[in-house]
Amino acid sequence: MCLAHSSVIESFAEQSALPPFAAGLIDTLNKAATAMSLSIGHRLGIFDAMRDSPPLTPAQLAERLGLQERYVAEWLGAVTTAGITAVDQEGRYSLPAEHAQFLGVDAPLGSMSSMMQWIGVLAPVESEIIDCFRKGGGVPYSSYPRFHEVMEQEGALTFDADATLGLVAGLAERLEQGIDVLDVGCGRGRALRIFAERFPNSRFVGYDLSAEAIARARDNAAGLENLRFETLDCMQMRDEGDFDLVFTFDAIHDQPHPPLLLANIRRALREGGVYIGQDIWAHTAVADNRDHPLAPFVYTISLMHCMTVSLAQGGIGLGAAWGQEKAFELLSQAGFGNVEMHRLPHDMQNAYYVCRA
Ligand SMILES: C[S@@+](CC[C@H](N)C(=O)[O-])C[C@H]1O[C@@H](n2cnc3c(N)ncnc32)[C@H](O)[C@@H]1O
Repeated sequence: MCLAHSSVIESFAEQSALPPFAAGLIDTLNKAATAMSLSIGHRLGIFDAMRDSPPLTPAQLAERLGLQERYVAEWLGAVTTAGITAVDQEGRYSLPAEHAQFLGVDAPLGSMSSMMQWIGVLAPVESEIIDCFRKGGGVPYSSYPRFHEVMEQEGALTFDADATLGLVAGLAERLEQGIDVLDVGCGRGRALRIFAERFPNSRFVGYDLSAEAIARARDNAAGLENLRFETLDCMQMRDEGDFDLVFTFDAIHDQPHPPLLLANIRRALREGGVYIGQDIWAHTAVADNRDHPLAPFVYTISLMHCMTVSLAQGGIGLGAAWGQEKAFELLSQAGFGNVEMHRLPHDMQNAYYVCRA
């Protein structure tokens, strides 16, 4: 790959001389490349190794992690020129403390390098998505080998048990006394596991289409008597008045038929029950999302995953940016007469819908 032959680069030797739009495109290219490098550093534990460490040469860093020095050196070139790490005159690299707080698996203020993994999860399906543009249809879950692994990590960033329970007065007390709880599209079941450990008198059930995710959920929950998981296509859910509390975490918009699923959830609730749905926050109209801080990410992840996996199941492809206006409409159609939408301070990505009959 030789950038020197790009006519844009040839005509403008300095990025600062480029017209602003073209300079912005170079910036986008650099940032997209940096996202890949951040993901690699995250997965290899390099940020965690650099946190609180004195400056290290590439050889020292490679030795500490059991990695190949040549690869570590090239990676350091990428993230240092991107302003993520620093290099001194002796060629030793360090991770500034203010950056270390957001990078790595153990990032003290929440891992933003974890989010960068989505680029690598989505990139391999680009050609399948292009085929879908031409022929229709969708890309199935099976085309995304690391989806459930990365989704579980994202859930760890956005899920806050206390903040979620705080949405409904008295809910924690009811869970302490003992109620029946369902998580629809539970993935690897991390949220349910946290609740089941905390509330031993309540009974918890998780449904998900993915046998692989359910197998992992069961392994992780071994020994918890009040928690069970079932592999189930939730379009076929037949529960009727069996649950006091139903959750969905980021699991409505990418279902084949969200209106049907919401009706199934409504039917599954007992008298006086409550449904709490966490889902991507946006407005429904594109024009209203121009100031949304994550809009290009949300639409792209929807195009390359959420919308297409729904279409692959013969669904309607609602999309991740279905938005609050559409959410209120579908929740009302499903029979929820009382719906509140909340935003929580720890979670810039999601809205929380608290719904009662
Ligand atoms: C975006 S993930 C969210 C997973 C989990 N709630 C979390 O927060 O980590 C959506 C989940 O819905 C599941 N799903 C998709 N279609 C489904 C269907 N028809 N029935 C049940 N689950 C489905 C997927 O397997 C996936 O685990």
